[in-house]
Amino acid sequence: MSTAPKTPDTPTDERLPVSLPALMDKRERGEPIVMVTAYDYPSAQVAEAAGVDLVLVGDSGAMTVLGYDSTVPVSLDEMLVLARAVRRGLKTPLLVGDMPFGSYEASDEQAIATAQRFVKEAGCDAVKLERGGIAVQRARAIIDAGIPVMGHVGLTPQTATALGGYKAQGRTARRALGVHRDALDLQDAGCFSIVFEAIPAAVAETIMERMEVPVIGIGAGAATDGQVLVFHDLLGIYDGMSPRFAKRFAHVKEDMVAGVRAYADEVRAGRFPAAEHTYSIDPDELQSYREAIAPPAGIAWGPGEEM
Ligand code: KIV
Repeated sequence: MSTAPKTPDTPTDERLPVSLPALMDKRERGEPIVMVTAYDYPSAQVAEAAGVDLVLVGDSGAMTVLGYDSTVPVSLDEMLVLARAVRRGLKTPLLVGDMPFGSYEASDEQAIATAQRFVKEAGCDAVKLERGGIAVQRARAIIDAGIPVMGHVGLTPQTATALGGYKAQGRTARRALGVHRDALDLQDAGCFSIVFEAIPAAVAETIMERMEVPVIGIGAGAATDGQVLVFHDLLGIYDGMSPRFAKRFAHVKEDMVAGVRAYADEVRAGRFPAAEHTYSIDPDELQSYREAIAPPAGIAWGPGEEM
């Protein structure tokens, strides 16, 4: 049995990679599970250094890093580029790849092929898909093919239009029952974990009574086993649409703008680069170089002439 310390402050080198049983153990011990999204090498390194348990290469990257106005247009190939970059920056958190809209709904074969690409080409440990209904069957097929699946219920942004927009779900008895049924169906299909997004805390609390796998909440209150936030929301990098649950823990975009503005000001004022930012050359070498390019005595190089 490992004796590796388990606190987030443990240096990366001494931490064990997070496994599915480790997540289940955390749930059983009542230790909150921390998940964050990441979309590139630096954000993965930040997640690693902060000691989170799970990293999701979310299709929210469509909006936060690719500039689309929803998650719908992002392609599988684009998601794989992001996932590969995250993999390079990550050692210990479990890495989950988010299957984009249109990459798994059509058939079990399509879903398995997409999940396999996340694992084989990007080194993901697991994949995530959205909704109940047909997605439950797709989750089952992927799990049967040997790839762990995370479900996602409540507000599912890939189908936000059908849900009436980006708004909380499960706010009527009928809709709460729908979310409840989707969560249990995904659990029965064998999902190792499920995301509850934007549902009333009391509904999440009620569904939690039936859940046996780790549930990660986002805008679902405090009863879930863990929480997830979008990297750019929590750090204040993205200033697009921001839901009420997206608490800001830093204001990184302001710092970035201030930094680039200071750089621009120094360049324009001739204060950057200064001597300490430049390279030297041995004076004899400089002299030889200048002599080598000097025109022969009495001849001035004209425009367009070879030296
Ligand atoms: O894409 C994403 O970032 C997500 C999380 C909000 C769970 O699906």
